[in-house]
Amino acid sequence: MSTYGTLFRVTTFGESHCASVGAIIDGCPPGLELSAQDIQIQLNRRRPGQSDLTTPRNEKDAVQLQSGIEQGVTLGTPIGLLVRNEDQRPHDYSETDLYPRPSHADYTYLEKYGIKASSGGGRSSARETIGRVAAGAIAEKYLRIAHGVEIVAFVSSVGRISLPTTAPTMGNEDEDDGGEPLSPEFRSLLASVTRPTVDAHPTRCPHPETAERMKARIIRAKDASDSIGGTVTCVVRNLPPGLGEPVFDKLEALLAHAMLSIPATKGFEIGSGFRGAEVPGSRHNDAFVQRADGSLGTRTNWSGGIQGGISNGEDVYFRVAFKSPATIARKQDTAKYDGEAGTLAARGRHDPCVVPRAVPIVEAMAAIVLMDALLIQKSRVAAMSLLPPITTLPPTMVMPQKARQEAANTTTTQ
Ligand SMILES: Cc1cc2nc3c(=O)[nH]c(=O)nc-3n(C[C@H](O)[C@H](O)[C@H](O)COP(=O)(O)O)c2cc1C
Repeated sequence: MSTYGTLFRVTTFGESHCASVGAIIDGCPPGLELSAQDIQIQLNRRRPGQSDLTTPRNEKDAVQLQSGIEQGVTLGTPIGLLVRNEDQRPHDYSETDLYPRPSHADYTYLEKYGIKASSGGGRSSARETIGRVAAGAIAEKYLRIAHGVEIVAFVSSVGRISLPTTAPTMGNEDEDDGGEPLSPEFRSLLASVTRPTVDAHPTRCPHPETAERMKARIIRAKDASDSIGGTVTCVVRNLPPGLGEPVFDKLEALLAHAMLSIPATKGFEIGSGFRGAEVPGSRHNDAFVQRADGSLGTRTNWSGGIQGGISNGEDVYFRVAFKSPATIARKQDTAKYDGEAGTLAARGRHDPCVVPRAVPIVEAMAAIVLMDALLIQKSRVAAMSLLPPITTLPPTMVMPQKARQEAANTTTTQ
């Protein structure tokens, strides 16, 4: 379906070559100062034609605020956001009238709905993600003002060229060799990376030396009329503890759902991810320590800031894998809709690699998930605060009144 969220509900609309794309956001708190520019900044980071590493489709992606905001302040009513499609060229896609593009969505959309948009990816096109990015910018602004939440995504690999994510491995597979799931360099990058350092290079990789190699890899794919995939890593700082709704709506499950709904995604891992399966518990456990403010934190953070499906106050970080874009100009032996074998060399304007443009989309989906989770937890804490303090239960069962009040303040006040 095209709606996500329980209390912060985002509905996106639009296809690749229709009149406009956008979103309706229901449940945004009233009283948030919001301008078109707050949203435009992120749309500009997503828009096509930013560099020779992205599709040359020329779209300004200028957002128009339709409703829910007056004199720069949200009213609490549905916010309508619209972006006109200006550079539609349906004729570019005449080949796909005959061929479903291999690994694109043409065949499955037609099978499912019995009808599909006449050109381009229709609803499966990355044009749809404009609504997500616009809604995410609103969620992000609220999260930043309310809790100082910072969300930064960056490109961590293109093809097989990767940031120094993992420690140099590791000898004998049968032995416990003392390695860690993620390298110290990568962990320090997670702690310090900022959007300006990410945007300093057209690949959106914040490691200049690796970024240059990634750029050359994307250009090599483009020159060969081919495409290449990659991964995006995202870190969320200053997220309050208590977010996530076990058991089915654990925070990592919600993030995985949201990330895997982005077109072209193929994988998701949280914290130590698949590498976490390779080290023993004695090294993977995040031991508790007392923070300067007296609260409990963890010495390491292989959990990725989530335990039991609930945020624990440490940084949340995760990685998303994007496949190589399906539409390539290189000839492919395939079959037409009617089953006749043939050769397709796709025309049109396409991204040779989606990850540089996927960065703000990942940030937006993270913001939407966290905003919804925050509003749900705030409503629970507010409801509980109306009850008298519990004095009859042992301290391991119920938070002391003072700590409970402090926890309530963390999720209910600025
Ligand atoms: C930012 C972004 C740009 C994309 N650009 C293209 C593109 O130029 N050509 C293409 O074939 N797919 C592109 N895609 C991917 C398709 O939208 C998507 O792969 C396709 O609809 C098939 O869906 P699936 O990969 O989710 O199964 C892009 C995805 C993203 C996130």
